[in-house]
Amino acid sequence: MTDPDTPPVPRRGFATRAIHDGQEPDPLTGAVTVPIHPSSTFAQDGVGGTRSGYEYARSGNPTRRALETCLASLEGGARGLAFASGLAAEDAVVRTLCRPGSHVIVPDDAYGGTFRLLARVHGDWGVEVTPVPLTDLAAVAAAVRPGQTTVIWVETPTNPLLGIADIAAIADIAHAAGSVLVVDNTFASSYLQQPITLGADVVVHSTTKYAGGHSDVVGGAVVTAEADLGERIAYLQNAAGAVPGPFDCWLVLRGLKTLALRMEKHSDNAAAVAHLLAAAPAVSTVHYPGLPGDPGHPVAGRQMRRFGGMVSFRLRGGAAAAAAFCGATKVFTLAESLGGVESLVEQPAAMTHVSVSGSPLEVPQDLVRLSVGVEDIADLLADVQRGLAAAAALPAAADTAAPGLVTT
Ligand SMILES: Cc1ncc(COP(=O)(O)O)c(C=O)c1O
Repeated sequence: MTDPDTPPVPRRGFATRAIHDGQEPDPLTGAVTVPIHPSSTFAQDGVGGTRSGYEYARSGNPTRRALETCLASLEGGARGLAFASGLAAEDAVVRTLCRPGSHVIVPDDAYGGTFRLLARVHGDWGVEVTPVPLTDLAAVAAAVRPGQTTVIWVETPTNPLLGIADIAAIADIAHAAGSVLVVDNTFASSYLQQPITLGADVVVHSTTKYAGGHSDVVGGAVVTAEADLGERIAYLQNAAGAVPGPFDCWLVLRGLKTLALRMEKHSDNAAAVAHLLAAAPAVSTVHYPGLPGDPGHPVAGRQMRRFGGMVSFRLRGGAAAAAAFCGATKVFTLAESLGGVESLVEQPAAMTHVSVSGSPLEVPQDLVRLSVGVEDIADLLADVQRGLAAAAALPAAADTAAPGLVTT
């Protein structure tokens, strides 16, 4: 019980928690960095006599435990769980919550791999999936099937169109229907947005992205608002075994220490790039929630600390212009993935989002996605100009700007 005479300890700031939570100096040696524990098994003092609760590394590992504690703290949740990839984390959540006949609402511009997992893998298992534009709250409410909609899946900002969903409003819809609200927080990162504080029940991450931050690890995470649900997902984490290795956990933990610094710089650089693109004649549409004219700007301004490092845009020259842009940049590396310190460029329709081709989630061919890194902004802006010059050098294609979005 809390002593009414003892003032509450103020919650430490984000950057302090990222550097310290779950990461007390090692009691044996004083090492200030969490050790990498490669051991697959742990000695017991007599049968069943574990020393600190560890018995076998699939069930629990001290390096993983440190990461899981830190992740839960950063998201303001009760339980953090680390997985071998973002999709492994998502799979554990869906298989814990859904059964054959369950209905799941997903964003109509979700990450293609999430849609593939839900619609194709879990779809074969009897889960029904309805893609809905999450910006339209009336459409979300109308898509809910009372007694059947088990999960409302939110991704905000979305990959690759940077759509913004109102987490608090969708939490109300989900909870009124008895559904669980899951938020994929990969694009924002725990620093820019904390969905549990807005009413989400579960947060998932591809820690491959901003959490790791250096394009050197593949990982995933789940954080639950309530311990009970965390325990159920932890059961599957052990029973199905999609756990990350200790070195991978350590890399993500190290990445988290600088997450706040990196996200500030990513946001500065992406804002400058988005403004340059918005003024470029070759560009028909810029998707960046930090632009005042972006449809997601008001909601993003309420629920995000800043607007993040991802920008996507469409080129008037069509798919060929998008490919030319991607082929011309020198600082932005042509590659899939995102969220690392280095800037990346890609053409989603031909690369990361091929899996949604022909589905309701198909993305435009003329779309280019930028993961804006933390290099010097002058070099990034010069590189974007280089890409735009290459795109503009092609013969003009039909104007493919989407209605209702930011167009220059
Ligand atoms: C928004 C989002 N969620 C989940 C994933 C899947 O993560 P992973 O590649 O670590 O399995 C990705 C991957 O790009 C993503 O962009």
